[in-house]
Amino acid sequence: MQKILVVERIDENAIKGLKEDFLVDVRYDLKKEDLYEIIKDYDGLIIRSITKVNKELLNRATNLKIIGRAGNGVDNIDIEECSKRGVIVCNTPTSNTISACELTIAMILNLNRNVVLANKDLKNGNFRRNLFVGNEVYKKTLGIIGLGRIGSLVATRMQAFGMEIIAYDPYIKDEKFDNLNVKKVESLNDLLKVADIVTLHTPKTKETLNMISFDEFKIMKNDSIIINVARGGIIDEKALLKSLKEEKIKGAGLDVFEVEPCLNNPLFEYDNVLVTPHMGASTKEAQIRVGQNVCTQVRCGLLGFEVNNILNKELLMKNKLQKANIIKNYDLNLKNEGALK
Ligand code: 3PG
Repeated sequence: MQKILVVERIDENAIKGLKEDFLVDVRYDLKKEDLYEIIKDYDGLIIRSITKVNKELLNRATNLKIIGRAGNGVDNIDIEECSKRGVIVCNTPTSNTISACELTIAMILNLNRNVVLANKDLKNGNFRRNLFVGNEVYKKTLGIIGLGRIGSLVATRMQAFGMEIIAYDPYIKDEKFDNLNVKKVESLNDLLKVADIVTLHTPKTKETLNMISFDEFKIMKNDSIIINVARGGIIDEKALLKSLKEEKIKGAGLDVFEVEPCLNNPLFEYDNVLVTPHMGASTKEAQIRVGQNVCTQVRCGLLGFEVNNILNKELLMKNKLQKANIIKNYDLNLKNEGALK
C-alpha cells in the first residue's frame, strides 16, 4: 500500500477518506531532522505553508510522487526541484480565498476603528472613547495590489462600504477591472500616492519580494494604512518599522512575516500595528474545503487519475523523469475527465 505523510494540520475527515486507500501517517509534531529521516518511506506528502520543501528534503524523498499543498501559496516549495525529480506539486487555490479576504476586511475595519485597542483599554478598567476616535472607510480609496482571486473578493465586498477601489496588477486584463468596477492604475507608485488603505494580494515571488520598501513608504499618504495578509517579505519589515517610527503612515495590519513563526518582532511594539499569526485561511469552512480538495488531488495522483491543480505539469512533461508514469496516467485520464472528481 502506498504511504502518505501529513505534516501540517488539515481536516480530519479528509484524512479519514485517504485512509481507505493508503497508509496515512499524521505527524504534526515532526522536527525538520525527523522529517528528513522518514521522508524516504512516503509516496505522498501533504503540507501547508510552514514546511519547507527544498533540495535537501527532496534528495531524501526517493519515493515521493506527489506533494499536496493544502492552501494556496507555494513559495515554501521548490517546484523546479520537484519537477526534476518527477514529483507532482498541486495546491488548492480557490478553497481559502474567502477566509483570506474576510481577514483582510477585519484588519481594515479594526485598524480604522481601533477595536482591538479599545477592547483592551476597557477591560483594563478605562472608559475612554476619546482615545479611540477612528476613521470611516466610506468614500476613502482602497488600493489593491494584485487583483487575483482574493484581491477581487476584497474589491467587491469593500464596494459595499462605499469605498473607491483602485488596483495595480499588470497581469490582469482590463476587462476584469471593468467587470469589477475597479479603476486600473498603471504603476505601483500611482496607487501608493492616492490610496488611504493599501492591501497586498500577490504571491511571494522574486518580483514581489520587498515590493513595498523605503521608497514606496515615502510615497504613501501620511494617514494611510497598509495590510498584508498575503506573504511575509512582500513588505520590507525594516522599511515598515522606519515609516512607523517616523509616523510616515498611520498603521499596519500584518498576518504574515518575513520569518515565521514570528515570536519577537520590533513591529509588535507599535499599538498601531495589528498582528495575527498567519491565520488568513484558519476558518473551519476554509479548512474543510482545503483538506477535502488536497486529499482528493493526492489520492487521484497516487492512483493515476487526473489531478485538478497540478502546478508543474509542463515542467514534468519536459523532464520525462522516472515518475512520469503518473503523468501518463494523468493524460490518459484526461480523456475520462471527471472520473474521480
Ligand atoms: C495560503 O497560502 O493558502 C494561506 O497563506 C494559508 O496558509 P496556511 O495553509 O499555512 O494557513
